[in-house]
Amino acid sequence: MGEAKNGRIFSGVQPTGNLHLGNYLGAIKNWIALQDDFECIYCVVDLHAITVPQDPAVLRRSIREVAACLMASGINPEKSILFNQSRVPQHAELAWIFNCVARLGWLNRMTQFKEKAGKNRENATVGLYAYPTLMAADILAYKATHVPVGEDQKQHLELTRDIAAAFNSMFDAEFFPQPEPQIQATAARVMSLRDGSSKMSKSDVSDATRINLTDSADDIAQKIKRAKTDPEVLPSEMDGLEGRPEAANLVGIFAGLSGRSQADVLSEFGGQGFGVFKPALAELAVMQIAPISAEMNKLLEDDAQIDALLEKGAEQAKAIADPILAEVKKLVGFA
Ligand code: TYM
Repeated sequence: MGEAKNGRIFSGVQPTGNLHLGNYLGAIKNWIALQDDFECIYCVVDLHAITVPQDPAVLRRSIREVAACLMASGINPEKSILFNQSRVPQHAELAWIFNCVARLGWLNRMTQFKEKAGKNRENATVGLYAYPTLMAADILAYKATHVPVGEDQKQHLELTRDIAAAFNSMFDAEFFPQPEPQIQATAARVMSLRDGSSKMSKSDVSDATRINLTDSADDIAQKIKRAKTDPEVLPSEMDGLEGRPEAANLVGIFAGLSGRSQADVLSEFGGQGFGVFKPALAELAVMQIAPISAEMNKLLEDDAQIDALLEKGAEQAKAIADPILAEVKKLVGFA
């Protein structure tokens, strides 16, 4: 760790239920790959989780489970900083300052708030509305330069850049960098296995729509077997996937898991039906995803060890964020 190598990475995941294939292919697989070449800070964002109501006992469990799942997937706490957000008070402190920089008009444009608040907007928490300013604080408390995320976080990243620029201009300092989003070329938006027009999500009521990183080999194979498709064979070229969202999604998942381009996958499977493609996809998914849950369960046998790792990560994170916050306070006029 230590010195930023090619830059400093920050990214986060909410401890609200099981991680799924969308989280893995859209973000976590990339987090793992970046560990050798960047200084990486990965965060279980529990402050974000409480923007919608949570049962305290379930939340406590989920924080440990998500941390264990990240480690089981390949996040190595010897190489990367891994912690949960509420252990590092600098996130909330900087978020408040950003609440006094960001404008209502900017937050009013956030599509994720509109989706999550739904029709009952008056009843949404103030925290859900201010969610993106906390996310900006997560990233900028470390002056992170790169942020690996799935496509659904793009608008929040744009807001983070606007907040960084507005802060710099308000206080007449070249203080915060403009963090770059890192969005994968394939599988940046993994869709539901039952509906190619809606995103794979933890909150979907049907478990058949997603592959959880905790699923057994049998569950994974069954879910792929039952995934919605169409009666056509796979095309040999990319433009043949147009208007075929379910087929495009499965090809994207294959590409994401194998590290190949979608065009390359089609050059192998073009002309074949799903009777051939699905078993090949199931084999690939089982090989990569099924070992995660066994490793995760092993780690979860020792809660105290997970807590100790998160505490160590939090201390490392604080050591970076604390001097940055001290500078922010000087610029604002608190000190
Ligand atoms: P969260 O917890 O919803 O998801 C974690 C990561 O997984 C990606 N993702 C997906 N990628 C592809 N296809 C999908 N179906 C899919 N579903 C989720 C997300 O884009 C994300 O990268 N607001 C963030 C957490 C956060 C954060 C941050 C991220 C808080 N602070 C600072 C980056 C930097 C969120 O709710 O992610």
